[in-house]
Amino acid sequence: MIYPIYIYGSSVLRKVAEEVAPDYPELKEFASDMFETMYESDGVGLAAPQIGKSLRMFVIDADSFSKDYPEGKGFKRVCINPEILERSDDTWFFNEGCLSVPGVHEDVERPSEVKVRYFDENFVEHIEDLDGINARVFQHEFDHLDGNVFTDRLAPIRKTLLKGRLQKMSKGNYKAAYRCKQVK
Ligand code: CO
Repeated sequence: MIYPIYIYGSSVLRKVAEEVAPDYPELKEFASDMFETMYESDGVGLAAPQIGKSLRMFVIDADSFSKDYPEGKGFKRVCINPEILERSDDTWFFNEGCLSVPGVHEDVERPSEVKVRYFDENFVEHIEDLDGINARVFQHEFDHLDGNVFTDRLAPIRKTLLKGRLQKMSKGNYKAAYRCKQVK
């Protein structure tokens, strides 16, 4: 099942999401729906709040980046109740976008490497060291679970320049090539 994507200005994108219980009904089916929704809109990551569910869960498939970022090859994950255990001091900039903020792409600075913990759709725990594009996408999606979007992380000057556009978007003035909605 393909869900509509919730757009900037929707209140669910600003909430701190709830932990997922191990007996959450039809979790595997929900994860598979999240992948389907993400692929339909050509995304590389999708967090549950982006489809209106305030849950600490996201899916990633960085494989489409693997030509430029080999670490992305086969990096397909369901991450439930994730945590970032360690962040490297060194950082890098990458031009990010977000399905919930259509048409906006900005360079965002984030730690280059992270050590993470999460549960998969079978509620098996994983601890992984991520770098490159994998660390990047994980951190972008993780932000969504705490009510943050990538534009919050821009330098003040970039935020000021984007302000009008984001205000318009939050008032319903946006275009996207996929099914979406805005719920205040
Ligand atoms: Co996003």
